[in-house]
Amino acid sequence: MSIHIAAKQGEIADKILLPGDPLRAKFIAENFLEDAVCFNEVRNMFGYTGTYKGHRVSVMGTGMGMPSISIYARELIVDYDVKRLIRVGTAGSLSQDVHVRELVLAQAAATNSNIIRNDWPMYDFPQIASFNLLDKAYHIAKDLGMITHVGSVLSSDVFYSNFYEQNIKLGTMGVLATEMEAAALYYLAAQHGVEALGIMTISDSLVNPDEDTTAEERQTTFTDMMKVGLETLISES
Ligand code: HPA
Repeated sequence: MSIHIAAKQGEIADKILLPGDPLRAKFIAENFLEDAVCFNEVRNMFGYTGTYKGHRVSVMGTGMGMPSISIYARELIVDYDVKRLIRVGTAGSLSQDVHVRELVLAQAAATNSNIIRNDWPMYDFPQIASFNLLDKAYHIAKDLGMITHVGSVLSSDVFYSNFYEQNIKLGTMGVLATEMEAAALYYLAAQHGVEALGIMTISDSLVNPDEDTTAEERQTTFTDMMKVGLETLISES
């Protein structure tokens, strides 16, 4: 086992779906996977391995924020040899053109975090998605009829930010939405030469705070996003 994951070698597939919420990992395992077996309960960060359409895949929670996803993603990559990681989560829209329930595929991630700056103080290292996964996910989502945006997101260290105006300004410069994990995941993928993608459903809008969703609408969108995530996960390299 690694420091934070109790799985034995071989219990985690080389392709993994990463929701922030561990109970969503459980939901995905119970509703989308066959023969799912739980491989981790440490800190209730549930992880499961099963099959999806005959392909062996895993799903595991990451917790919220870049420190948390960095711990799990690194151990999955370094200690368990995971090669393809897809984050499925929510994000707040920063754009007048991106509405709740719509899908954002994070082509790139800006960040206000120091995690990359610590390693590269003199560089602005670009956090980018795997083009292969991005391309696959885009076509899968379009085929499912989902309204799908491709562009950059802001991966923020703070949910309750004091920099509301700056974040909105990023929106006017083409940053579609704000979330809290993608940049760290992309950085780890770059460091270790593996594939990563962030797929986000818009759960709220910073530019149109009145936009709302019902629980049922959220569930439908969530289910569609999982299909995009799983189909992309099992797609050809
Ligand atoms: N900010 C940061 N992360 C988020 C948000 C948000 O507004 N909505 C969902 N995840």
